[in-house]
Amino acid sequence: MNAVDLTRTNELSRRLSAMSRERFYDVYHSFEWPERLDPDRFAMSPEITTLAGTEVLNSLTDEQIHALTVYETATLFSNTLNGERLLVSGLATQLYGRDATPEITDYLHHFLDEENKHMIMFGVFCDTYAGRVYPEKKLAFAEGPMAPGEALIRFYAMAMVVEAFGDYYNVRTMQDDRCDPLAREISRVHHQDEARHLAFDRAYLTELAAEHLPQWPEETLTAFRKWLAGFMRVNWVTFYNPAAYRDAGIENPYEVQQLALASESQKTLRRDISRGTVRFFLKIGLLDEEPEL
Ligand SMILES: [Fe+2]
Ligand SMILES: [Fe+2]
Repeated sequence: MNAVDLTRTNELSRRLSAMSRERFYDVYHSFEWPERLDPDRFAMSPEITTLAGTEVLNSLTDEQIHALTVYETATLFSNTLNGERLLVSGLATQLYGRDATPEITDYLHHFLDEENKHMIMFGVFCDTYAGRVYPEKKLAFAEGPMAPGEALIRFYAMAMVVEAFGDYYNVRTMQDDRCDPLAREISRVHHQDEARHLAFDRAYLTELAAEHLPQWPEETLTAFRKWLAGFMRVNWVTFYNPAAYRDAGIENPYEVQQLALASESQKTLRRDISRGTVRFFLKIGLLDEEPEL
């Protein structure tokens, strides 16, 4: 067993496992899948789409705005699903492994089970209402030798970036009664599980960082922080999806992508949405300055 003090992570894992058992659900019987989404309701709040606050949004028809919310929801669900594929494979590797206490392994079974369910519900949503799951965008993975604890810290930092990002959108959608009931219900179910995953990520990362970061050479720490800031940035860029713009009937999707990325209101939105995650990373030392998002 490793020497990291995992007292709090173990204690939390016990509670989270109990909650996951209590709320265990069958994803195949959790949703009604209508033939099409409600044309009078958004799939996500227009204020958090990638065109919010841009001149492009003002030029769109109501139908295009509705379609944008559908295809951006499909982008969010596809990106989340693709992140979950990696997550599940990493979690499976960690089960019963050198770094996992029995309490952690017990919880990882739930974490993995829940992510598998999420991929099923997101997959059905994307296939049914967007005609496909948008393909995976290659994110920045590190290569080469790693410092002690680094692989695990990278893994949970990535998990947290993707999960906290998706959770913000889930919460906004589930609270917005202008949104489609199915999109809201999927968001609610995902948010319930993700609240536990994020609590686990935070506890585990806190104890791993406290043990390992003080031992890392300065250049390892600098390279890690650069990588994490880059990962957060790339994760955002994948949400500005030209294929979704095209599917929503918007012309010049690549130009629209560049315009949206550069827009001041979108920069503010990105900073606001990522604030909590950035603060946490600063607090435990994974970042030492606010990244350019
Ligand atoms: Fe998930
Ligand atoms: Fe999750």
